[in-house]
Amino acid sequence: MTAPDSTAVRTALWRALHVAVDPPPHVFDDELGLRLAGPGEGWRDRDDMDPATAGRYRAGMVARARFVEDLVVEHASRGVGQYVLLGAGLDTFAQRRPEVAARLRVFEVDQPGPQAWKRARLDELGLGVPEWLRLVPVDFETTSWWDRLTDAGFAADEPAVVASTGVSMYLTKAANAATLRRIAGFAPGSTLAMTFMLPPELLDDGERARHRATAGKAEAAGTPFVSSFSPAEILALAKEAGFGEAVHVSGDELDERYFAGRADGLRLARGEEFLVATAGAADRGRPAASS
Ligand SMILES: C[S@@+](CC[C@H](N)C(=O)[O-])C[C@H]1O[C@@H](n2cnc3c(N)ncnc32)[C@H](O)[C@@H]1O
Repeated sequence: MTAPDSTAVRTALWRALHVAVDPPPHVFDDELGLRLAGPGEGWRDRDDMDPATAGRYRAGMVARARFVEDLVVEHASRGVGQYVLLGAGLDTFAQRRPEVAARLRVFEVDQPGPQAWKRARLDELGLGVPEWLRLVPVDFETTSWWDRLTDAGFAADEPAVVASTGVSMYLTKAANAATLRRIAGFAPGSTLAMTFMLPPELLDDGERARHRATAGKAEAAGTPFVSSFSPAEILALAKEAGFGEAVHVSGDELDERYFAGRADGLRLARGEEFLVATAGAADRGRPAASS
């Protein structure tokens, strides 16, 4: 069987670690990703799962997953019927949230090999691919994900929520700009929530050291960070791409939204933030989150 994507496994394990080691309330409750990853006994002994050093990263992973699902639930309640995950990895929304997902057409776009592996794991676990989920195999750098998406049944004339978390940093700036242009042309009211990595010089000394260590590991693993954006740069890129509205959601806002008042002091790592952009005229479908 093809191998899973190691970056997708890591984020799924961090989400599971949150449930395993952090006291409730949990910002995001996903242990299904762990079952999919099937890392075997001792996964919590991995270097990158050390609760002491990985705390801020696992907080970042659950915050970004929760932010996207809150957005999807909000838009689904307003009648949006399509949800596209670009670089879905071991996302389990379609299996965990059938009460919402069954009202949507959910499209998971990811690299062909790791996606075939995920499909096989879903079968092995008896979960299968629910009727509301379409798996769309694509390499963003070489193939038109848009053509594959429409082949899979995406309705170009209907609005959608598009999520891309933990992906833009692995793609070139040109590939990211092309993706933004494509989504800006989606039906009016469509919303993109995309994380982007901040350039290290915008981080404080502690976070910059942490970022350098993570970037080194990513490079050594063969999945180097290729692009980063300042908030001003990503907002300008979104406007150039043709989005009617574009806002930046900072790490501080995510902390405030999901971790304020926690007794355990859990906070998210800095360095990855959100662009939330809406297709169509500037006064349509304004996203709830803004900065
Ligand atoms: C860090 S994981 C993030 C997964 C998920 N979005 C999350 O937040 O947990 C990055 C994902 O992007 C996908 N990816 C990276 N480069 C890609 C490419 N060129 N084409 C398609 N998918 C890609 C990987 O296969 C992986 O699933």
